[in-house]
Amino acid sequence: MSDPYLTITVFRDERVLARTLAERIASTVGENPRQVLGLATGRTPVRLYHELGALHARGRADFSHVTTFNLDEFWGLPPSDPGSYRTFMTEHLFRRTGIRPEQVNFLNGSAPDADAECARYDDAIAGAGGIDLQILGIGTNGHIGLNEPGRDLASRTHRVALKASTRRSNAALFGGDVDRVPKEALSMGMGSILRARRLVLIATGKSKAKCVERLVHGPITTKLPASFLQLHGAVEILLDEPAAQLGVRGLHG
Ligand code: PGA
Repeated sequence: MSDPYLTITVFRDERVLARTLAERIASTVGENPRQVLGLATGRTPVRLYHELGALHARGRADFSHVTTFNLDEFWGLPPSDPGSYRTFMTEHLFRRTGIRPEQVNFLNGSAPDADAECARYDDAIAGAGGIDLQILGIGTNGHIGLNEPGRDLASRTHRVALKASTRRSNAALFGGDVDRVPKEALSMGMGSILRARRLVLIATGKSKAKCVERLVHGPITTKLPASFLQLHGAVEILLDEPAAQLGVRGLHG
């Protein structure tokens, strides 16, 4: 541990990271089947989700009583759109683990009123008793969920304008065409995220090394939303060696 507030573990590679975290989640859910899981999209957690699917297929994980909340969704897309985060999660996690639609909570990108939809979501999280374990990725610009860097950060779930870099990194969901990536999204706010009881942030690859180093060693600033994780007190950061290459020290997994 290199910091009193953040536990950092560096894994040999992302495969070992994903497998270790999947085993831990399966055993946590084994001990407490009604876990409320906060979930993230992006390339980073895909391997984790497939490992959870493999554990489920081997009868080593039972997700039939969990409740899930995803961090964010594109604004302007119906849930069934092939590019939606909901579709991504169905493909990579829900159908692989037997998680049924009635266990899943998602922001609706085609709701009639964005503000009402965001308020509904915060109420739903509170109604479920809060999130027990929130999985997070980190954008190369330091965003968490879709809380983009800026002059201020919203605490609650809200509508956001996406940065060009975020739209580019989501182009794969839209056949590689960045112009088709929606310009806005709904995202849990930093306060909504920081209310989760435990946070696990995964970062892999050297493109994440700089923002990970700033998250761990830098000041808390809205220019790097991830830096607010320093305030939480129960954050684990799981890295592969390339993501840890800028002098971030930790336990070795
Ligand atoms: P990525 O996205 O996993 O595709 O790098 C992470 C994020 O934007 O949170």
